[in-house]
Amino acid sequence: MPEPPVKPIEWLEDHIRIIDQRKLPATESYLDLKTAGEVADAITDMALRGAPLIGIAAAMGVALEACNSACDDWEVFSGRVADAIDLLSSTRPTASNLFWALRRMRRSMEKAATTRSPQDCRDAVVAEAVRIFREDLETGMSMGRTGADLIKEGHTLLTHCNAGGLATSGFGTALAPMYFAHSEGRRFSVYADETRPLLQGARLTAWELARAGIEVTVICDSACHLIMARGRVDLILVGADRITLSGDFANKVGTLGVALSARRNGIPFYVVAPTSSIDFQLERGDDIPIEERDSDEITHLSGVRVMPAGVAAYNPAFDVTPAEVVTGFITERGLIGPPFKENLNRIRPEAAQRR
Ligand code: MRU
Repeated sequence: MPEPPVKPIEWLEDHIRIIDQRKLPATESYLDLKTAGEVADAITDMALRGAPLIGIAAAMGVALEACNSACDDWEVFSGRVADAIDLLSSTRPTASNLFWALRRMRRSMEKAATTRSPQDCRDAVVAEAVRIFREDLETGMSMGRTGADLIKEGHTLLTHCNAGGLATSGFGTALAPMYFAHSEGRRFSVYADETRPLLQGARLTAWELARAGIEVTVICDSACHLIMARGRVDLILVGADRITLSGDFANKVGTLGVALSARRNGIPFYVVAPTSSIDFQLERGDDIPIEERDSDEITHLSGVRVMPAGVAAYNPAFDVTPAEVVTGFITERGLIGPPFKENLNRIRPEAAQRR
């Protein structure tokens, strides 16, 4: 396996180590998290973020809780692990991956429950959390290889938010094809939308791509329309937090505008996401729960108030893009084109049918 461009999370038996993404790009610092509660806080406070990484961290949070519960009484032990799953599932509502990973953790705990042995359960949930992490590395590579074929010599790409290594186990989703095309020797450049209000594009995508030697230019979110209209974008790759069966999907707020302009200007618009981001239970995008975050993220920049006191700010963190403006989905199961309902249903994993 090639080395991933970044390592945002590591399982270290009695704790996990994460890059504190709030501090990037100024400081590359790490946080050691020892309990499910600390992991939940790190997710809520955005020390780590991005749909696949949230799922991986939550799975590891459950595993930490199981390892921390020294108790041999099955009822007490399993109650504590179940509480950790509930706590972690209340951290962020939009990304499917969180609930997908916690369902896997619950199932592995239930399987181990047949022996009512806390130690069997500890072994099972640790193994499952590590498996979720490793599978995500494979998934990133697979999406990277498939998507890299779309990137041609001299292309200019555009992306929104951070769907890179930092948002996953290390290869990314929308940025994975860029890493693979770059390693194959193709030259191209990338516009990164800055991504208000938390600047995941300016802070994180720019940091990752520049570090990998990929040419990146940050633009204000609202400049993307002009740049597309001027014919300066060949291909758009974005990630997704939740994809519904119809192909409508949620991603960082602002993605909808990018997609509409792409359609108007005839630019191919692809969503790169693992099947763990597909919610096979939801039909339409309107049914996706949209996280609303604290208005402080808008009223303040780096702790400094930038709006008059007393004026309200409203902060939905995601928006929903309709399937009709999507060119295709790049998943670890290949490139999925329209009709999306039929084609997404075809890759529905067995496990999704059983839940
Ligand atoms: O609020 P964030 O930073 O967690 O939002 C992240 C995004 O919207 C990403 O584009 C999405 O999670 C896909 S990540 C591979």
